[in-house]
Amino acid sequence: MLPIMVKTVVWCDEVATQHFAQRLAVQPGLDRAYLALQGDLGAGKTTLVRHLLRALGVPGRIKSPTYAIVEPYELPTLNIWHFDFYRINDPREWDEAGFRDIFASPGMKLAEWPEKVAGCVPLADLVLNLRVTEDESRQVTLTANTDLGAVLLCACDVSAVPPHKESL
Ligand SMILES: Nc1ncnc2c1ncn2[C@@H]1O[C@H](COP(=O)(O)OP(=O)(O)O)[C@@H](O)[C@H]1O
Ligand SMILES: [Mg+2]
Repeated sequence: MLPIMVKTVVWCDEVATQHFAQRLAVQPGLDRAYLALQGDLGAGKTTLVRHLLRALGVPGRIKSPTYAIVEPYELPTLNIWHFDFYRINDPREWDEAGFRDIFASPGMKLAEWPEKVAGCVPLADLVLNLRVTEDESRQVTLTANTDLGAVLLCACDVSAVPPHKESL
């Protein structure tokens, strides 16, 4: 069992969020990763997912799955499932909706509000906990629970990347 790795980064604006997503998108192993996104409403969970999906090549409008609970994406070499469990109040809904099967199938899983289905979802490879700071930056605590998560966490190290200039 690997020691849990934790790192904190700051995304000072949405461009920084986009850059993080772009670095993450090129990591091998992402196609079988489960990323859990924690943080209050408005913390920036969906924004990160949108930038990540865009960087992976998802075209068109990327909807928040707040009402549908899950939005699937099929790319030529990658299946992606974007969950938002905010509206789930009874973990039994998890089984009824067939989410167990989705988590057992190949593909990348991204989940907002994973705490709503605690005990049902597997352990996330990487947990991203987003917090809005006083200056509206996002302080993000990354916790790797698996070897894959540790690889992704190291690969996304912001200190390895020069300052960005481009706009959104
Ligand atoms: N790093 C950031 N710095 C400042 N604002 C951000 C950042 N990331 C996201 N935002 C803004 O904060 C809001 C986050 O909304 P959203 O992503 O829907 O939050 P959540 O899914 O966590 O409820 C968006 O308006 C987005 O433009
Ligand atoms: Mg959201």
